[in-house]
Amino acid sequence: MSGSSKLIEGRLKKIALVLFIAAGMTVFLGTRSDAKWADSQNRGKGKITEAERQTDANADRMLTEGKQTFRFDTFGDEAFWTDALQLNRAIAGANLGGVGPGVSPATALAVGLKVDLDALPQPLIAQLKQGRVDLNDPATTLALIKLNAVLGVKGTVSGNTLQSVGITCALCHSTVDDSFAPGIGHRLDGWANRDLNVGAIIALAPNLQPVADLLGVSQDTVRAVARSWGPGKFDAELFLDGKAFRPDGKSAATLIPPAFGLSGVNLHTWTGWGSVTHWNAFVANLEMHGQGTFYDPRLNDAAKFPIAAANGFGNVRSNPDLITAKLPALHFYQLAIPAPPPPPGTFDAAAAARGATLFNGTAKCSTCHVPPIFTEPGWNMHTPAEIGIDDFQAKRSPDERYRTAPLKGLWTHQKGGFYHDGRFATLRDVIEHYNTFFGTNLSDAQKTDLVEYLKSL
Ligand code: HEC
Ligand code: HEC
Repeated sequence: MSGSSKLIEGRLKKIALVLFIAAGMTVFLGTRSDAKWADSQNRGKGKITEAERQTDANADRMLTEGKQTFRFDTFGDEAFWTDALQLNRAIAGANLGGVGPGVSPATALAVGLKVDLDALPQPLIAQLKQGRVDLNDPATTLALIKLNAVLGVKGTVSGNTLQSVGITCALCHSTVDDSFAPGIGHRLDGWANRDLNVGAIIALAPNLQPVADLLGVSQDTVRAVARSWGPGKFDAELFLDGKAFRPDGKSAATLIPPAFGLSGVNLHTWTGWGSVTHWNAFVANLEMHGQGTFYDPRLNDAAKFPIAAANGFGNVRSNPDLITAKLPALHFYQLAIPAPPPPPGTFDAAAAARGATLFNGTAKCSTCHVPPIFTEPGWNMHTPAEIGIDDFQAKRSPDERYRTAPLKGLWTHQKGGFYHDGRFATLRDVIEHYNTFFGTNLSDAQKTDLVEYLKSL
């Protein structure tokens, strides 16, 4: 090669290099000028568009309203819990114009009700610390209800009388961090209250005749059924099909699931009844007995849902409607609640890392529990045969399937066991089931690693 051609080649290389850098800069600047970059730059300078501002303001408003609804809204369900069942009288007790012994704070805590520390005034906290508050007196419970400090219980107290009481979503789907004492602490919205004995609370109501009429049984039977549920459980399908017990004689109730970490998840409830907002409308109308509108003609199936069909639960219209207007923000708030990360030191990180590899490989878990949502993007439902369990609960739902449970925050609800009815007491038991059913031949060490991974989610 001649000297001049070498020179030309060198120049060409330089030009190529300059062009390459220029191209790179263009790509780089192009990326920087995309919507996200512009947005982050403009926000600080107050340059966002009017439409963006409206969206941001709407998101803020929905979070605030949704939180309020989730925690405090009864949707007018006092008509059921107070006027019909007279639960207020059982809470107050005979000494305060009600019936029976009443519900003291000690009793309330024993049936899993939780007290919001942040709703208590400082002097009361000081008295509690000094042990100068009578936790065996129902009057104290009334004082707490008046302060709006009992999670999920909304009451009107005038003088020494509990005039009315209603329940909110927070009753079952919130707990506290026990920072003051067991059952007393800061609110944790979305956590499943696995201490709560809903059945024991319902059984206290002086008048269960409306429920007995609905189910076509005696009040004693209603009480026996409610008491059979146990802590952390409720039977949302009982009022539809009247089935209180499974063929094996055990209670038909299911565990209360968390109401956090649900964004990105298509179908909800153990058996995939519908979206979050479908189920919110369902629960507010048919379980809490609030006053609203609910439409789901699948409930007109008289063979599957005899009670729902006979009572027109597939098409409920109340006037006034105290539910529908609250659904958008309630939906938004629940989707915003993240699954809480596990506290440091509660799992073995090295084992969890090995467990992740198994989860996504040999153990075949991620075929259904797709990270990071841990359920299938799409129609996240499986037949009982696909997961190797009986079909009793699946058959009590429209699609007769089980929904792939999202696994984030599993560590928060280990009490009561796993799967819809808590049939597996521990995560190890769940893995043993899959190992046998799928024939994956995991070693003991591999099973331990998988457990550590599940605890880390
Ligand atoms: C009496 C206890 C109780 C109350 C009150 C209650 N829930 Fe539930 N919730 C349950 C149970 C039990 C299930 C599971 C039902 C099933 O699978 O059949 C459930 C399921 C859910 C789910 C599905 C979670 C998932 O894993 O997909 C959401 C969301 C939910 N509830 C939100 C609410 C909201 C919002 C309210 C208030 C309008 C509410 N719940 C009131 C007990 C309750
Ligand atoms: C064929 C799909 C499928 C596969 C594969 C699968 N799961 Fe599941 N998983 C489900 C379904 C469906 C449920 C809900 C069962 C129910 O509601 O009773 C579930 C529930 C669970 C639960 C209980 C969650 C809770 O809140 O109680 C855990 C834990 C779990 N799976 C872990 C795993 C692990 C670990 C693997 C791999 C060894 C795995 N799963 C493989 C579909 C699957």
